[in-house]
Amino acid sequence: MAKPKIVLAYSGGLDTTVAVPWLQEKYDADIITLTIDLGMVDLESIRQRALSIGALEALTVDGKDTLVNEFLFPSLQAGTIYEGQYPLATALGRPLIARYLVEAAREHAAYAIAHGCTGKGNDQVRLEVGIAALGPNIDVIAPIRDWGMSRDDEIEYGLARNLPINANRSRFSTDENLWGRSVEAGELEDPWLEPPEDAYDWTSSWSDTPDKPSYVEIHFECGVPKAVDGESMTGIDLINHLNTLAGRNGVGRIDHVENRLVGIKSREIYECPAATLLHTAHSSLEAMTLTKDQARTKARIAQEYADVIYNGLWFTAHRKDLDAYVQSTQRFVTGDVRVRMHKGTCTVVGRQAPKALYNYGLATYDRTDEFDHSSAEGFIKIYGLSVRTENQVQSD
Ligand code: ARG
Repeated sequence: MAKPKIVLAYSGGLDTTVAVPWLQEKYDADIITLTIDLGMVDLESIRQRALSIGALEALTVDGKDTLVNEFLFPSLQAGTIYEGQYPLATALGRPLIARYLVEAAREHAAYAIAHGCTGKGNDQVRLEVGIAALGPNIDVIAPIRDWGMSRDDEIEYGLARNLPINANRSRFSTDENLWGRSVEAGELEDPWLEPPEDAYDWTSSWSDTPDKPSYVEIHFECGVPKAVDGESMTGIDLINHLNTLAGRNGVGRIDHVENRLVGIKSREIYECPAATLLHTAHSSLEAMTLTKDQARTKARIAQEYADVIYNGLWFTAHRKDLDAYVQSTQRFVTGDVRVRMHKGTCTVVGRQAPKALYNYGLATYDRTDEFDHSSAEGFIKIYGLSVRTENQVQSD
């Protein structure tokens, strides 16, 4: 009789490699691994590895395009930056991973999904809440959370079963997709300690960045970036290109002590060159095209939306409602932004938009001024009336 099946989210790393025999033995099940490329994964080598350690099937999917168009760009339009620092790269990938896992479980009639998250992080919550939303009848197994093995135990367990494991794993825990690289653990756990250079991979250190500034021009249509320096690009190419360009100038290094959903404060380093650059450019185009009321309300919505993403609530009506508002605000967020990158900074130095609310005739101090100065007097009288009355009657 065929054994029951479990779909395992498989990265090819130590934890999920050890999980394959562990799940087989503990649940007397066949394991189907699923590896998803959200940016920089060599799918074929990981697939071969999964098969070599006894997976029944090793599935792979290229999720880059979906990640960009359904998750990253909506988040850019919304301006979602968690606690003012983190552009949410890891958090945005998780709901998509949950979706692919549920699809694979359905297609292969698996009764359960297994993942390699620990019991201390946000990612277990994001994946499991995502699975609960999309596949409410599918069981979830979290071996790393359940088995209580230390890293050395894992290595011993793996070596005893002849698994191809790499015992010199980095001292950092990392996660990456197109929107950024997240790094934690090791000496980063001391929040007083300056991150060592080898914690970084995508960005040049200050001393290696060019002495001269570089400029880049980004064209947006309805809040979505479409071209760089006049060249139209797909979302994936555009993000890759900006990661290189901004990374070379040291842009996008973030050192954040953040509040996790599970109540722990953690210190994490992020490298998000393209995301940092695009958020900066996008918000400067909004400054040209949104009214003051829209801009203020949208900033509040952005904070709520960022919490929703961080806290694993992507598949909710609340998220869709926030998104509907955001999409409506983006109708006229079309135009160009010029950004200067230099020694780790990115600064907007020019912006233009066909539907800009910025009006030169009203703003200028020179002879072409169209503003009616005489109307200011009456405006101030009425505007200041309550202040005048209050101070006449209640001055102390
Ligand atoms: N703290 C970030 C988040 O919750 C990233 C988590 C994954 N980071 C890692 N280094 N493995 O979104």
